[in-house]
Amino acid sequence: PEIEECVERLSGSGLPRWEDLIALLSLEDEEELQPLFLAADTRRKEVMGEVVHLRGIVEFSNYCERNCLYCGLRQANRQLQRYRMTDREILDAALTVQEAKVATLVLQSGEDSFYDTMKLCRLIEKIKGETGLVITLSMGERPREDYEAFREAGADRYLLKHETAVPALYRRLHPDSRRENRLMCLKWLKELGYETGTGCMVGLPGQDSAALAEDILLISSLKADMAGVGPFLPHPQTPLASCTAGTVLTTLVVLALVRLTCPAIHLPATTALSVLHPEGRMKALAAGANVVMPDFTPPAYRRLYDLYPGRTSVPQDPLSTLRTLESELNRCGRTLLI
Ligand code: 5AD
Ligand code: SF4
Repeated sequence: PEIEECVERLSGSGLPRWEDLIALLSLEDEEELQPLFLAADTRRKEVMGEVVHLRGIVEFSNYCERNCLYCGLRQANRQLQRYRMTDREILDAALTVQEAKVATLVLQSGEDSFYDTMKLCRLIEKIKGETGLVITLSMGERPREDYEAFREAGADRYLLKHETAVPALYRRLHPDSRRENRLMCLKWLKELGYETGTGCMVGLPGQDSAALAEDILLISSLKADMAGVGPFLPHPQTPLASCTAGTVLTTLVVLALVRLTCPAIHLPATTALSVLHPEGRMKALAAGANVVMPDFTPPAYRRLYDLYPGRTSVPQDPLSTLRTLESELNRCGRTLLI
């Protein structure tokens, strides 16, 4: 009964109560958590409906100038073969997204200054002009002027996960970026009229229930339009190789709590969750998620976008992903937005 009261209070309007978040984040029994998942699924249905939105991702460069401790793309990982897609290859991948009737393209990369402001603006204009796709960018921290130029060139949305809301943990994990700057970037993006996405990892070393409650409150206070929430998975070629992975259950709890506290937010079922569990995607879609992001990076490059282990071995030909997803969704009365 106490669990139901926490869920009830968090479903209401007004600021989420810290004690309620902590109480639910501390539960580890899947049975006990059912009222939470049910409430999140109901809320998703009421506010976002039965459609699942699709975003086609193209990972156009795996070069990165940063050294985030958890990430396989970190510059210090010399074992990774690096690639950059040409403008032609990126445009072709965008056309594939369009042919698959996916309305939104996500252009993602490491922080790679090879693609300077001019290059990216020309690329965005060209893709917008030839495909008319909604363009989402996900390429890290940039100066405000760059965000402004990309917006003028035709970019509509930007994803920049806050990764963790806790200052000390953020500092430990990011030797070359500052939390303040990241939050400043998110503020700029909002000001410039981008639909803005943030999000975090779940199960980072040193991240407790209170840290996750902070993540949820930050997502809510940023008024983010989207939040990517996925489990941390230790990558063997990083300093966090020997750490424990996040769990499916805790990730689902965070997703459900984000849905309750930010009812109209777009929440993807992340690939990282599919890596952790074969039914990860459907579990997320039943706990508040309403977005799926199939990968349209050409296969030869896809296996090199090695953020975390297992990612590159998930069979993810985008068209077969879409077919499987469609039949899974139809079975539970939901539809793909085509
Ligand atoms: N486990 C899970 N997610 C990761 N990311 C990077 N490394 C990992 C990892 N080891 C995610 C981060 C980042 C995005 C590029 O990939 O959340 O935002
Ligand atoms: Fe680079 Fe992003 Fe990976 Fe950090 S998380 S190393 S910025 S690709």
